[in-house]
Amino acid sequence: MKTSIAIYPGSFDPVTNGHLDLIERGEKMFDLLIVAVLRNTEKQPLFTVPERMEMLREVTGKWPDVKVDVFEGLLIDYARRRGAGVILRGIRAVSDYEYELQMALMNRKLEPRLETVFMLPGEPYSYLSSKLVREIAQHGGPMSGLVPAAVEQRLRAKFS
Ligand code: PNS
Repeated sequence: MKTSIAIYPGSFDPVTNGHLDLIERGEKMFDLLIVAVLRNTEKQPLFTVPERMEMLREVTGKWPDVKVDVFEGLLIDYARRRGAGVILRGIRAVSDYEYELQMALMNRKLEPRLETVFMLPGEPYSYLSSKLVREIAQHGGPMSGLVPAAVEQRLRAKFS
């Protein structure tokens, strides 16, 4: 039974099939899953926030209970504003664990009512990351199976 609002925060620069796998799993668990793109002034992203949101909307459009949004500032403040009780994050491998643990515990310290839920993406995505996808695209490598077709097109256009 689905009973809550969850936020799936991230950079999504760009959204990969690994992100989509997690969104599909989260969509089944929560009443509303908000995929929230961080507007980060420190990072130099490949895609602008509107571009990333457009791609996310394109590839999640088939799920009515998945919404795409942008946030800045603290995630806990955004979660409060959206009335969310859960933060959804993916853990691909042990190497993700330390960073995720630190973030989850800090978020719990800042807002004890907010629960972080970790999910495992499917094994074929356990070595996939936006960073590697950007690198492959930059050098004209094959991207099939890594990102949705619409995202592949945008990546090719960026580096053409
Ligand atoms: O996809 P990413 O870059 O791993 O996502 C990181 C993200 C967006 C989840 C994290 O940087 C974040 O929540 N930033 C918002 C600022 C914040 O709340 N910082 C304190 C976290 S303990």
